[in-house]
Amino acid sequence: MNETLQAIFDRRSIRDFQQEPLSGEQIQLLARAALASPSGMNLQPWHFSFVTRKSLIGKISDAAFETFRRKGQQDIIDRMSARHEQLFYGAPLVVFITMNKDNRSEIDAGIAAENLAIAAQSLGLGSCIIGLAAAAFQGDSADELKKRLEFPRCHEMVISVAIGHPAVHPDPHDMHPEKISFIG
Ligand SMILES: Cc1cc2nc3c(=O)[nH]c(=O)nc-3n(C[C@H](O)[C@H](O)[C@H](O)COP(=O)(O)O)c2cc1C
Repeated sequence: MNETLQAIFDRRSIRDFQQEPLSGEQIQLLARAALASPSGMNLQPWHFSFVTRKSLIGKISDAAFETFRRKGQQDIIDRMSARHEQLFYGAPLVVFITMNKDNRSEIDAGIAAENLAIAAQSLGLGSCIIGLAAAAFQGDSADELKKRLEFPRCHEMVISVAIGHPAVHPDPHDMHPEKISFIG
């Protein structure tokens, strides 16, 4: 088994991280992995905000929960609260991937998110892709948060990736071979 396939097979969504921060070198490698992602017509329509400031990550998590409350999404609050007190599971790094509203490609953002997840795995780190973080940018503090995260003008968050040293080691998800057709 080569190392790339090993990283793909070993990756899990990590929902509890150790406090230990990432090194500058790890963060730089993750940033390069993000920028190396393919995109349709090579438009690279993204911006990546790499956030390590704990208080800011906590504030973004609070803002997301505030939106869930305002929208009456108690099921989401219950599900997330049962997992961890914070939407980002205590990760020391969260990457926010944004796109221009008028040129939004969820496919490009998703591919970049997976590049980050596999790169993190290859560095001995864990990750969790977190779509629910979009809720943080739908409330009263949205403009302030977008400014603090340096989102370019007219950009909105598409997906985020929490990265750090895993504090848990979950099993792989179920696989369904019947979902593949081999046409020979
Ligand atoms: C687009 C996308 C959005 C996701 N959003 C969240 C999320 O907001 N919170 C979370 O805990 N996990 C989230 N996940 C992780 C999935 O729940 C996880 O990938 C799935 O359960 C399979 O488990 P695995 O990643 O360990 O293989 C997301 C995954 C994807 C691909």
